[in-house]
Amino acid sequence: MSRIIAITNQKGGVGKTTTAINLAASLASLERKVLLIDLDPQGNATMGSGLDKAELLYSTCDVMLDQVALADTIISGLPCAYALAPTNADLTAAEVELTTLTDRECRLRNAIQSIRDQYDYILIDTPPSLNMLTLNALVAAEAVIVPMQCEYFALEGLSALMTTIEGVRSTLNPSLKIDGLLRTMFDGRNNLANDVSAQLDEHFGRLVYRAYIPRNVRLAEAPSYGLPVMHYDKGSRGARAYLALAQEVLAQEFHRPERTPPTALEQDLPAEPSLEETIEPDTSPKIADDGVLVFQLKQNEK
Ligand SMILES: Nc1ncnc2c1ncn2[C@@H]1O[C@H](COP(=O)(O)OP(=O)(O)O)[C@@H](O)[C@H]1O
Ligand SMILES: [Mg+2]
Repeated sequence: MSRIIAITNQKGGVGKTTTAINLAASLASLERKVLLIDLDPQGNATMGSGLDKAELLYSTCDVMLDQVALADTIISGLPCAYALAPTNADLTAAEVELTTLTDRECRLRNAIQSIRDQYDYILIDTPPSLNMLTLNALVAAEAVIVPMQCEYFALEGLSALMTTIEGVRSTLNPSLKIDGLLRTMFDGRNNLANDVSAQLDEHFGRLVYRAYIPRNVRLAEAPSYGLPVMHYDKGSRGARAYLALAQEVLAQEFHRPERTPPTALEQDLPAEPSLEETIEPDTSPKIADDGVLVFQLKQNEK
């Protein structure tokens, strides 16, 4: 049975796409069958996997609008050694159109059902916002990996993401969980990075992956060759780091450590809904001005 993992953080430039591409390639090199679904209209995962986003016959846009089966978009046989459901800017239009369609949060989940058994891992690269596309990824996934940079504002926005994940869990996808926070672009010579990393460990404990991704120029260069770093420079620190992450992800297959929930940051999070409050099952999340999905809580009538 496959595991479906969304790679999500509403901040841009934190290493989501780099993680999606290189974790997919590393899992494939460990003999897992992997599908990477590009759900970011920027199409960076598509280009970084060696496919020209300007020349797609079908894309995940067609899937989200229910015009094409996911299977018909999937490209195999690329040098990256994983299968890819590509995308391009058309997906932006789909995101707008989706808001008027029924079942809009569940489109990706429904689309994945028919191909799910063909893969060990299905990774979803998401856009840098908590929009309807990201929501589709969170509804389809069992787990979330959150790449984050160890810098001053790293924790800002994390509580909004946690709130969104909690909202999805209590409505559309009760089995969703955070598999881990991943430190990306880490520079151990930087005191601030070390301080923030220590804070992450302190606040989130085992929710933080032991593997971390160093800042490594090979990781930044590889996408311009349409290759995951392990096919571009196998011995690079970036390649070895993503392989270590893949091994940690695989280890979770056999032994799921009790990942401790956040503690010290709880004061930043909105209060848990009381027992009198429930989330209306058919209440769609709304997107607030700051881009955060808001789940409408409704008092139960007693
Ligand atoms: N560990 C790293 N070391 C060096 N550059 C990196 C690393 N991870 C990502 N980058 C570069 O940083 C930029 C943003 O990364 P990306 O994965 O596209 O972030 P996101 O998908 O979250 O927007 C890209 O140019 C990418 O090549
Ligand atoms: Mg990206």
